[in-house]
Amino acid sequence: MALPDSFIQELLSKNDIESVASSYVAFKRRGRNLVGLCPFHGEKTASFNLYPETNSFYCFGCGAGGDVITFIKRIENLEYIDAIKFLAERSGMRMPENRQENDQVSRLRMRILEANREAARLFHATLYRPEGKVALDYYHSRGYTDATIKHFGLGFAPPGWDYLRNALRAKGFKDDELVAATLAKRGKNGGTYDFFRNRAMIPIIDIRGNVVGFGGRVLDDSKPKYMNTESTLAFSKSHNLFALNFAKNTGRELNLCEGYMDVIAMHQAGFTNTVAALGTSFPEEQMQLVARYADRVNLIFDADGAGQKATKRAIENLRRTGLDVRVVTIPDGKDPDEFIKNNGAAAFKRLLERSSNAVEHSLLEIGKTHTLSTAEGKLAYSQEATKVLAKIESPIERDLYAGRLSQLLGVSKDAILQEVEQTRRKKERQEVRYQLPNLLRQERKELQQVNPEAAQNTRAASAEESLLGTLILHPDYIKSVRQALAPEQMVTSFNRELYRRLLDRERQGLLVELPFLASDYDQDGMAYIAKMVRDMGERVVTPEEVARFAAIIREEHTLRQIQNPAEASDEDIQKMLDTLRERK
Ligand code: CTP
Ligand code: MN
Repeated sequence: MALPDSFIQELLSKNDIESVASSYVAFKRRGRNLVGLCPFHGEKTASFNLYPETNSFYCFGCGAGGDVITFIKRIENLEYIDAIKFLAERSGMRMPENRQENDQVSRLRMRILEANREAARLFHATLYRPEGKVALDYYHSRGYTDATIKHFGLGFAPPGWDYLRNALRAKGFKDDELVAATLAKRGKNGGTYDFFRNRAMIPIIDIRGNVVGFGGRVLDDSKPKYMNTESTLAFSKSHNLFALNFAKNTGRELNLCEGYMDVIAMHQAGFTNTVAALGTSFPEEQMQLVARYADRVNLIFDADGAGQKATKRAIENLRRTGLDVRVVTIPDGKDPDEFIKNNGAAAFKRLLERSSNAVEHSLLEIGKTHTLSTAEGKLAYSQEATKVLAKIESPIERDLYAGRLSQLLGVSKDAILQEVEQTRRKKERQEVRYQLPNLLRQERKELQQVNPEAAQNTRAASAEESLLGTLILHPDYIKSVRQALAPEQMVTSFNRELYRRLLDRERQGLLVELPFLASDYDQDGMAYIAKMVRDMGERVVTPEEVARFAAIIREEHTLRQIQNPAEASDEDIQKMLDTLRERK
């Protein structure tokens, strides 16, 4: 099942880790390396390190580490092969043909996409049949034109229990496939029925043009208002954005709304750089997807309580993407769809232009709960505001807002900045204090899981890992080490296996680099190996040192053999005596 090395090589040359990871993490350069906030765990101080020279990453906070393929596996939540596909697509490469045709999962995934596509066609065609008139009228009554309906592929699932199922059966789809797509549900008696009934149907299309799912809205006020495709092999809410297929090529600014209908109205009004979040939780993965396509994002949420809550959550999860976040507040508790319908596109454009950024938004919110006309009010406001400013990473921005606060409160800017600095330092100390025990424990736990034998064989394991890290960094050493050390002599089995692989690859003339190991190891395994590489990457390793690592491993190996003297051969006993003599 291995992909050709030449393919992986080209893939890696076109996807260096720096450019790949930079779409997810805002990095600062530190010497030869880059640091940023870890995308794999919540943190406020940067401990995520990128090593362009070894094409690897490592987080001192959570222990995540590995090569560029592992990075994509983790951040996009993909299996190895899909991570490869992802990178191939990113760099415009075609996958080698004929792979995994017998892979049932990917076949089922294909069938789900095909079923969705057929379903979308049928729902859309139904709109223009007698049974669909009620839905067509509904769309028209909301002000959507026929061009918009066509553009978005809007449709209708009529009432009844088997409209779609029967149509798709006739096209050769199996009930199991429809259930896997959540287009159908299985009843208690084992039969199947349509999941979407009597609903206006909105297809969700991914950036490759696949119909990955649907939103279905009732035509009246009944509940639930929306039903959506559940998680399938082809669809996960948190990894998609509605209308990103249209919005992705509009530039580096996106509008993010709450609802399907908002997006449709916005596009119709000419704001084609608008997407919706498919739900109201705005998970981090989704915000990272936003970050991949935009440098600036305008949050356009309903002005009601739920909308404001959503705004806060989205701001939090967007903060670490480093995006320029602005908040557009729509007056009178309307959503964008209604606002545009009532006031027109030009009025909406003015709203967009007046949008405040996230810090301003937070300050405005705080301002609403404190009066500035009394000393107590000012003090309370300034305390809250200080907390907001303390969260800003950029010193320039902190300075900017401190200046504004100073004018507003009649307090010197320096005093405000000093206050902010104190808050920041206090928070930092708290964080470190809180995280430290966790980090240590986590790292140890991970070590134990990946290489449980290391804990009992620290001297051997440490030499093994120094040696292996060196070999991955400097494959030139492999030839001489091969002579000096047989794989069987490695004490811990994880390292032994890794050493074997390195020797094998070298013997076959294949490249020995971190990414070529990604198909053989899971995330923790890769993290463990990345740590070896990182530990050795910081310094120059001389041939003498390499020889010494090998010698220590041999020694430890021999000693272990003797631990069971009954089974030791005369030769082993002699070796041990030699070893002990050498040690003295
Ligand atoms: N939503 C959902 N399930 C619900 C309600 C809402 O999945 N029962 C999601 C949908 O993605 C919806 C979004 O939350 O688009 C926003 O909900 P809401 O503001 O109620 O819907 P609108 O998009 O404004 O729909 P409409 O204008 O048709 O009322
Ligand atoms: Mn609405």
